[in-house]
Amino acid sequence: MIIEEAIRNRASIKVFSQEEVAAELIKRCLDVAVWAPNHHLTEPWSFHVIMNDAREMVARMVEKEMVERATGLNVPVAQAKAFKERQKLLSAPSIVAVYSAAGPDEKTTRENFAASSAAAQNILLMAQSVGLASIWRTSAIYELPGVRRTLQVHPDATFVGALFLGHSAQRTVKRRRTPASEKTVWLNLGV
Ligand SMILES: Cc1cc2nc3c(=O)[nH]c(=O)nc-3n(C[C@H](O)[C@H](O)[C@H](O)COP(=O)(O)O)c2cc1C
Repeated sequence: MIIEEAIRNRASIKVFSQEEVAAELIKRCLDVAVWAPNHHLTEPWSFHVIMNDAREMVARMVEKEMVERATGLNVPVAQAKAFKERQKLLSAPSIVAVYSAAGPDEKTTRENFAASSAAAQNILLMAQSVGLASIWRTSAIYELPGVRRTLQVHPDATFVGALFLGHSAQRTVKRRRTPASEKTVWLNLGV
C-alpha cells in the first residue's frame, strides 16, 4: 500500500471485534514506529502493549485505583466511571500505550513529545497498511500511578496516547477536513 493511500484511508474506529490480533502484526507496527524523526536521536518513545489477558489485569488496576481515590458520595460515581473505562479497555483486542521520555530541559521534553507523536502516527499508518483498524485515544487512566507501574512506564515519562488496534466492527466514517489550501501561506518571494 502506498503511503498516500494509508494516510487517506485511515479513519478512527471505535467499535472493534474481539478477534485477536497477531502479535507479529503489532510488532511490525512498532518496528516502523521507531523510524520517526527525533532531535539528537533521543528516541524518546516507549511502547506498552496491552493485549489478551493483560487487558483484564490493567482493567482491574484501573477500577481499584479509581475507586480507592474517590471518597464518600464520589465512590459510586467513581465506580460507574471505572466501569466505563473497563469497557473501553476491553473494547479492542490490543492497545499500544505510547509514552515519551522527559528531557534534561523543557525544550527537549517538548521535542521528545513531538517525536513520540510522530512515532504514534507511524503506528496508525502501518496498522492501516496491514489491514488493522485503529483509534488514538487519551484518558486519565494512563496517568494513574498503579496503571503506570503495571505498564512498566518510566516515572518521568509523559503519556502520549493509547492506540487501540484491531479489526473493525463498524462502518468507516470519514470525518471532514478543511482543505490544506485554507491553512497554508505560500511565501512565493521573488516569483
Ligand atoms: C491526541 C489525540 C487524542 C485523541 N483522543 C481521543 C479520545 O480520547 N477519544 C476518541 O474517541 N478519539 C480520540 N482521538 C481521535 C480523534 O477524535 C479523531 O482523530 C478525529 O475525530 C478525526 O477523526 P479521524 O481520525 O477518523 O480522521 C484523539 C486523537 C488525537 C490525535
